[in-house]
Amino acid sequence: MKVLVGSEFDVRNNFITEFSHEGKPYVVYCYKRTICVFAAKCPHAQGDLRRADYEDEYVVCPSHGLRFSLKTGEVDVNDIKDDFRNNIIARGIDSMRLKLLPVEIEDGSVYVEI
Ligand code: FES
Repeated sequence: MKVLVGSEFDVRNNFITEFSHEGKPYVVYCYKRTICVFAAKCPHAQGDLRRADYEDEYVVCPSHGLRFSLKTGEVDVNDIKDDFRNNIIARGIDSMRLKLLPVEIEDGSVYVEI
């Protein structure tokens, strides 16, 4: 389902940082020229990514500090404690991928496929 996020100007300037669709919250973030949209619940343990920080190409979950690539959605296990890394690897890194939703721009508006 194609859903309107907002104007391209507002999204590209990070004036729109979240929206809801059918009761589910989503996060919107423009990294350089790439518009990223993803569900607000962290794939690790449902942390609220609306309160996340950003470090370069990564969104950082406020709950346990995992970093997810805004390019691939992959979790970054490089700078975390061994036991936490081993736990994530045991669960499967792919199962903890942040799902980046497909974005389209049409006539100055941004849409996302949900
Ligand atoms: S809930 Fe996001 S890192 Fe744990």
